[in-house]
Amino acid sequence: MIELQEVSKAYQTDKGHTWAVGNVSFSIAQGEFVSIVGPSGCGKSTLLNMIAGFLEPTSGVIRVAGKPVQGRVPESLGYIFQKDTLLPWFTVYRNVALGLKFQGVPESQIRPRVKQLLELGHLTGFEQAYPHQLSGGMRRRVALLMSLAVEPSLLMLDEPFGALDTHTKTHLHRELMEIWSKLGQTVVMVTHDLDEAITLSDRVVVLSSPPSRILLDERIDIPRPRDVFTVRESPEFVRHFQSIWSVLGEQFRSAA
Ligand SMILES: Nc1ncnc2c1ncn2[C@@H]1O[C@H](COP(=O)(O)OP(=O)(O)O)[C@@H](O)[C@H]1O
Ligand SMILES: [Mg+2]
Repeated sequence: MIELQEVSKAYQTDKGHTWAVGNVSFSIAQGEFVSIVGPSGCGKSTLLNMIAGFLEPTSGVIRVAGKPVQGRVPESLGYIFQKDTLLPWFTVYRNVALGLKFQGVPESQIRPRVKQLLELGHLTGFEQAYPHQLSGGMRRRVALLMSLAVEPSLLMLDEPFGALDTHTKTHLHRELMEIWSKLGQTVVMVTHDLDEAITLSDRVVVLSSPPSRILLDERIDIPRPRDVFTVRESPEFVRHFQSIWSVLGEQFRSAA
């Protein structure tokens, strides 16, 4: 579904250019859930933006569903940005319906679809609430539903649960797992939370400090369905945590 060949990215600045992404190659199969972890500033958001076609790589090739991306957004993409991107002057209903409206879907079809999505995200009853009336966890859920509304086959999540407390996060993990197991999208998630990455993913990719390259690409062989509340106690989880942390922790140390 996604293929990166020797992708790099340098940003032009006043003082010349800085390399964000060094040399990154990997591929992601259809329906796979892959997390990218690495120190702050190692180009994780840059990588997602290049896969989504928002940014051009400096060198290398990115293919999505077999076609080179080259500044073209893949037609079936859901994206959750690192920053909260709900429209504050729209209700929950209108935020979730936004993508479908853009696609020109008639209101008679939007209504049942949004209702179904709000049920999926446990937000029934909040249709007419505005973003400022919701908790942080609810806002992230609305953002997730917004990106799911257009039924993307590719979901890009940039630290989707970043600033939330562990309790709220774990509940959202369960919801995301439920949605993903029903809809089977290909997911690329950036996170700084290794527990989260292991809990959710089929693979965890560790990037180095910039200019980044891949230090580790570990397959998480914990059977599914996973219970997000107890999976952390399992010996496989602990084993994966140790093996990934031994690489990631070293990057955090050198970045500090
Ligand atoms: N538009 C930009 N112009 C110049 N430098 C940038 C720009 N965007 C990101 N960078 C730099 O590129 C590096 C990678 O950024 P980013 O992809 O946001 O990292 P991450 O998401 O891993 O924290 C950082 O050093 C950042 O300062
Ligand atoms: Mg980022």
